[in-house]
Amino acid sequence: MGAAAVASSGTGLRCALNPALNQHKKGARLSLAAKSQQRCAVTCGRLLLRPNARVCTAASASASTVMDSGAWDSGVRRKRLAVFVSGGGSNFRSIHEAALGGKVNGDVVALVTDKPGCGGAEYARCNGMPVVVFPKSKSAPEGVSTDELLNVLRDLKVDFVLLAGYLKLIPGELVKAFPRSMLNIHPSLLPAFGGKGYYGLKVHKAVIASGARYSGPTVHFVDEQFDTGKTLAQRVVPVLANDTPEQLAARVLHEEHQVYVEAVAALCEDRIVWRDDGVPLIRSQTNPNAYT
Ligand code: GRF
Repeated sequence: MGAAAVASSGTGLRCALNPALNQHKKGARLSLAAKSQQRCAVTCGRLLLRPNARVCTAASASASTVMDSGAWDSGVRRKRLAVFVSGGGSNFRSIHEAALGGKVNGDVVALVTDKPGCGGAEYARCNGMPVVVFPKSKSAPEGVSTDELLNVLRDLKVDFVLLAGYLKLIPGELVKAFPRSMLNIHPSLLPAFGGKGYYGLKVHKAVIASGARYSGPTVHFVDEQFDTGKTLAQRVVPVLANDTPEQLAARVLHEEHQVYVEAVAALCEDRIVWRDDGVPLIRSQTNPNAYT
């Protein structure tokens, strides 16, 4: 790809856009607002795992963090994130705010949506982020194909894809392009109440109807089916005797905003390690021998 064009704003946006991406923009498939609060500062680092580490595989393909004396190197490369949203985007907002506030070592560089008018897309436009519509549909003819989306994500040098209330199944080609680099959040304790048809209030209605006394969000890696990838993090909330689905949803959503930010923070600091049986663990930021 050729030299990058740079979109910038008074607040410091530095998102490289190459000519191919600009073509998407011209085709009204990707919108870039004039202002942004994003920073895309990039620094470099490397990862050294202890020789006797029981868990030994770095989470991201980059394997580029430092952990030589138990301390995390502040020079870990800042990651580039694409968030996929179909609705209001409150998880997207919490991740974006955490990135701006320094809790997440990354920058949201694109918002992908199948619903160009949704709250998450509006928020992205207001904050100067490129909005990519995917997939193409009757109601969204401006949408891009899987190949075009992959090109856009490559052009933006996206490290990680974060699904945050994106309702479409992710095509296998896209899953394969981001090995161990795509997360989703689901509002139940998977593997319970997950899979096709379990979304929104339907999840919470089913939880209440089952008599379960506990629920909570799950952050998991994405595979080619709905909600079946390996679990990375969970939080538990009580299901109260008189809960409505809306009340339970609000209690779970509050925890979603915490746990997704914590999981994404770990991902962006290369603190995910993979157990021999393929289960991902989060290494503590303060104690390199502790995992959750
Ligand atoms: C959340 O409940 C999330 O768990 C699910 O979709 C919902 C998205 O909510 N995957 P929001 O758009 O982030 O507010």
